[in-house]
Amino acid sequence: MSTRDKVLDILKRAEAAISGESIAEQIGISRNAVWKVIEQLRSDGYEIDAVTNRGYCLKASPDLLSREEIQRWRTADALGGTLEIHENIDSTNTRAKKLAAEGAPHGYLVLADSQSGGRGRFGRNFFSPEHSGIYMSLILRPEMPAERAVMITSMAAVAVARAIERVAPLDVKIKWVNDLYINDRKTCGILSEASINFESGQLEYAVLGIGVNVKKIDFPEELQDIATSIGNEWEGFVSRNRLIAEICNELEMLYGQLETAEFMAENRSRSNVIGREVLVLRGSERFKALALDIDEQGCLVIQTETGVQHVGSGEISLKFR
Ligand code: BTN
Repeated sequence: MSTRDKVLDILKRAEAAISGESIAEQIGISRNAVWKVIEQLRSDGYEIDAVTNRGYCLKASPDLLSREEIQRWRTADALGGTLEIHENIDSTNTRAKKLAAEGAPHGYLVLADSQSGGRGRFGRNFFSPEHSGIYMSLILRPEMPAERAVMITSMAAVAVARAIERVAPLDVKIKWVNDLYINDRKTCGILSEASINFESGQLEYAVLGIGVNVKKIDFPEELQDIATSIGNEWEGFVSRNRLIAEICNELEMLYGQLETAEFMAENRSRSNVIGREVLVLRGSERFKALALDIDEQGCLVIQTETGVQHVGSGEISLKFR
């Protein structure tokens, strides 16, 4: 056990405040070394009170990512069975793509407590602060033609919505094609990236990147009106480990439907886009349209001035406020 873990263990077992001197004696280190470990633990998210003349008292432990906790909740067979956890990484998707190219198996999961270069669609950043969210990338190896790859995102949107509703009493909506909303604000973004075999036209692998805002988050000003978190919408405790496991479980249940796309019925019924006026952003094009439906290929069906169109890529903007 490391010195850090020994101090933590003593704090966890203590029934009352415990002095730095007593901790130091039990481990055989100096009081100054104990103080340094306490500071380290605090910066890792542990709430430790220093009570005058009595010592240290552990008030709350952070919801740290834990392989054991995830496996405890996971019922999925393949997805998330093998995983790696990073305290900080540039982007879990970048790491997963590298591993997939090197031959990592279907279901391999990359997790991080925070990302310094979290990536969203269209080259945007994904805000990924420590101890606050879920930043996960799953390597998938489906046998499917590249043009159906969007189904992976459509499936994931349903799976993550179900998983969130399992852990919190909230109503999760899907903003076509890759965002999840709670109370009209974005809570989750999905970034699916794929490698294609040009000869067969089949997917070689896909990396399914999912970012969920979980804890109470003080968003930077530019995100305050558009982003939210499970913790900003509901006061209860949500374990990140459990939510990661539930996402794997739900994904695995829907994975067999990738060919038949049965999950599209639920994707539509969760849509906060169908029936609304939207601004379609496609390359340099921008035009208003009425969202009519989402078809079986995951394309948005829109009514424009010139007729009905099926939009397969690009983005839409909704004016909620
Ligand atoms: C979006 O909102 O446009 C998609 C955001 C996807 C963010 C997730 S977080 C885990 C994975 N790693 C990344 O760098 N991005 C995805």
